[in-house]
Amino acid sequence: MAELRIEDLAVSVDGKLIINGVSFGVRSGEVLALMGPNGSGKTTLFMTIAGHPRYNVVRGKVMLDGEDIVKLPPEERFLRGLMVAFQTPTVVPEVRLSTLITAMINKINGRKLTDPAPPSLVNSLMKGIQEVGLTPAHLSRGINHGFSGGEMKRSEILQLLMVKPKVALIDEPDSGLDVDGVFAVGKALLSLANSGTAIVLTTHSAKILHVVKPTRVLVLNRGRIAAEGGMELVEEIEKVGYENFLKAR
Ligand SMILES: Nc1ncnc2c1ncn2[C@@H]1O[C@H](COP(=O)(O)OP(=O)(O)OP(=O)(O)O)[C@@H](O)[C@H]1O
Ligand SMILES: [Mg+2]
Repeated sequence: MAELRIEDLAVSVDGKLIINGVSFGVRSGEVLALMGPNGSGKTTLFMTIAGHPRYNVVRGKVMLDGEDIVKLPPEERFLRGLMVAFQTPTVVPEVRLSTLITAMINKINGRKLTDPAPPSLVNSLMKGIQEVGLTPAHLSRGINHGFSGGEMKRSEILQLLMVKPKVALIDEPDSGLDVDGVFAVGKALLSLANSGTAIVLTTHSAKILHVVKPTRVLVLNRGRIAAEGGMELVEEIEKVGYENFLKAR
């Protein structure tokens, strides 16, 4: 059983306080939906948990399975089971998507990054691309090189499905996806949670949440948690927007 626990986290970027006292926890198999208006700090929270050096932890803890990982470099956090799917994925034309996925699996299994993909990985890759709606051709292209917006999102989900991390932070997996894509990615995330991954996901749309069915919903506003509950919060946001959450509740 894996657990990510964020305790009283405060984060500044270029000297400006963006996250101010956020606490929450998520365990294996749970899906935590993190909602909140543009600029409320969702991506900042994920980047900080991932260990991006631009984000300065002013106070608080990032506990993964009881260990405070807040001072560890990003690679160590990945090796301990933490993985992020980015809101704006990076394009790396020189490295094939299949090479990246093979290297991640090799790293986790203590092999050399450049070792060939084991046959079991090749089989799961073929299943995975079907699940997320990509093709073998995408695997042979540079990472996200010339990928459409939706294809980049599908590629991020494919990477998660292959690695099966203990904890996945997934930043707007549905932005730019067509209707079928939202359903396919939602189902893929549900199966990832059912296989034991703890998921925190951000979104601006209720559609994917109707597929993924989050265990809990948090609403972030100006770097603080404004509300915590279930799907009733999502329904309220759909009906009247964030208005009620911008005031203190
Ligand atoms: N260097 C900086 N100086 C000042 N403010 C910054 C700086 N970097 C980030 N911010 C601010 O931090 C806030 C939080 O940004 P973040 O990307 O975390 O929001 P978000 O909740 O993910 O929004 P979205 O829903 O649009 O993705 C934004 O208002 C952003 O402008
Ligand atoms: Mg964001």
